[in-house]
Amino acid sequence: MIQLEHITQTYTDPSGNTFQALKDVSLEIEDGEIFGIIGRSGAGKSTLVRCINLLNRPSEGRVIVNEHDLTALPESELREVRRSIGMIFQHFNLLSSRTVYQNVALPLELVGTPKDVIDKKIRPLIELVGLTEHVDKYPSQLSGGQKQRVGIARALANDPKVLLSDEATSALDPETTVATLALLQKINRELGVTIVLITHEMNVVKQICNRVAVMNKGEIVERGNVIDIFARPQSETTKALIGNVVASDLPESIIERVRSARAARSSHEEVHLLRLSFIGDEVTQPVISECSRAFDINFNILRGTVDDMQGRSLGTLTILVEAEADVYEKAVHFLRQRGVNVEELSDVQ
Ligand SMILES: Nc1ncnc2c1ncn2[C@@H]1O[C@H](COP(=O)(O)OP(=O)(O)O)[C@@H](O)[C@H]1O
Ligand SMILES: [Mg+2]
Repeated sequence: MIQLEHITQTYTDPSGNTFQALKDVSLEIEDGEIFGIIGRSGAGKSTLVRCINLLNRPSEGRVIVNEHDLTALPESELREVRRSIGMIFQHFNLLSSRTVYQNVALPLELVGTPKDVIDKKIRPLIELVGLTEHVDKYPSQLSGGQKQRVGIARALANDPKVLLSDEATSALDPETTVATLALLQKINRELGVTIVLITHEMNVVKQICNRVAVMNKGEIVERGNVIDIFARPQSETTKALIGNVVASDLPESIIERVRSARAARSSHEEVHLLRLSFIGDEVTQPVISECSRAFDINFNILRGTVDDMQGRSLGTLTILVEAEADVYEKAVHFLRQRGVNVEELSDVQ
């Protein structure tokens, strides 16, 4: 288990001004999970993840990995522990003068591993990441996705228990991102490696993470199971990050329908554009029809999606409601009581 306890990171610039990149962050990551850390650029994600292997030494707080307090270890022992923590990066960080094979072999060469032992170790790794036929190529001869696979194989050379991934898919196109995430998931399942995955994209979290922490301005503002966070985001930061993925960028045709409903409404009625989300095995669509009957109001479903998240489904509906104020309040209350997350989309004017 990885435990970050009250981590603070303060940077001081040459003129003596201080800046807090991390403010009292505490976090626990269980063995074997894929844990996402999401937030906008500058939120402090890289700083936080680099504390896990003490590439960044926090100004305050403790880092405990498998019950060893890393912050208390002397540098020599720390080097040992660091080898049980692999890391992959957005820009791959490969050596251009070395082949795929030589890049993957590097961490073992550095600790003086005999050549035959290295060979036995890394051939299967190169196979695992699907690069056997490219083993003698140089990075310049590889695609972005292939380069990241080299990075992944290299990170696994020392049999790490933990793999830190800092925006590893951010430089890849969407299709290659999907394939790379599938590879990370396979590594997690087959080798039991705990993965801490940093990203600014909610789609990445959605695809493979079990739990997620949302960061903003050096703090964790929300954390929990991915599907719960998607279904009931609490913080504005999370809502904004999810908004980019689910339904909020409504097509002009739908926005037009909202405008014309507003223009045509009678004086005692209000028009609301809502996003409802619900976890498939908790709530089902009958709740919506039940609500519609109970309060005698029409829900106009403008858009509906069902996302699969690791075997559970998250339903999202964008609906238009025309109702009197008190009826509307009661209907929303009814839906919320039955586990539906209701959010008003106020940005459509
Ligand atoms: N070595 C450093 N010195 C001063 N400020 C830094 C340093 N590293 C990061 N920062 C600042 O800390 C904040 C968080 O950075 P970072 O952890 O890289 O964020 P993220 O990975 O979420 O984009 C940013 O405002 C960044 O400019
Ligand atoms: Mg970063």
